[in-house]
Amino acid sequence: MTSDPTPAELLDLALHVARDAAELIRTRRAEGVSVAATKTSLTDVVTEVDRASEDLIRAALFGARPDDGFLGEEGGGTPGSSGVRWIVDPIDGTVNFLYGLPPYAVSIAAELHGEVVAGVVLNIPYNVAFTATRGGGSHKDGRRLRVREPAPVSERLVITGFSYRRELRVAQAEAIARLQGMVRDVRRTGCAALDMCMVAEGTADAYVEQGLHPWDYSAAALVVAEAGGRAELSPGIGDGEAMVCAPEHGFAEFHQAVRSAGLVR
Ligand code: IPD
Repeated sequence: MTSDPTPAELLDLALHVARDAAELIRTRRAEGVSVAATKTSLTDVVTEVDRASEDLIRAALFGARPDDGFLGEEGGGTPGSSGVRWIVDPIDGTVNFLYGLPPYAVSIAAELHGEVVAGVVLNIPYNVAFTATRGGGSHKDGRRLRVREPAPVSERLVITGFSYRRELRVAQAEAIARLQGMVRDVRRTGCAALDMCMVAEGTADAYVEQGLHPWDYSAAALVVAEAGGRAELSPGIGDGEAMVCAPEHGFAEFHQAVRSAGLVR
């Protein structure tokens, strides 16, 4: 029986593969990009580059570790037998990517026996890597990350995002309008994984968004947790779940604010 890989070994592989994928994505962006298909709605797009990036990541990870499982945004899941499963968003922020508008990212998380132990979120246009290992802290290009100091809810800068489903995004916008009266201000960047990393590095105080998938948040949630934050799913509008993310020390107050705005129940 072979022994489990360490989180550091998994991160090392994830970072190498993410850098290769980012290189491919930058090259293909320079050549021009168009929509290949739509998914949940006409605004939920996929490009050939999302698919090429996921193919590259899948081939590289299976080349190095053939017995692992895999879950990717574009190609779905493949079971494994090693105890490791990779959770991959080949381009988070595809609409930004389509327009050539930063930011967009590659996100790769490594789960070991069901728990995420390593993750990388690589900001593609700026070539900056957010990384984390469970128990080993989180870093931005090697510099240790820490969430912001406590602040009253009224002085918190909040990032959010909107669903591709029209009825949900209208309800989200109405609730965000209520939250806007309670906080410093609200931002929308178009890349959920990097939004969460901004909470981890302290360039934002909090993040809330309904409708994310494991490939959007798995790596980033570890980056947040290892920087002193909490990233947690709560029941949201209708029957969905919302990701709520904030420093551990101010999480309860922020959760209360998003609840009174109607973003979570
Ligand atoms: C999307 C982005 C966006 C968020 C959406 C996500 P995708 O991911 O992260 O910021 O608002 O909820 O689905 O589709 O570009 O991988």
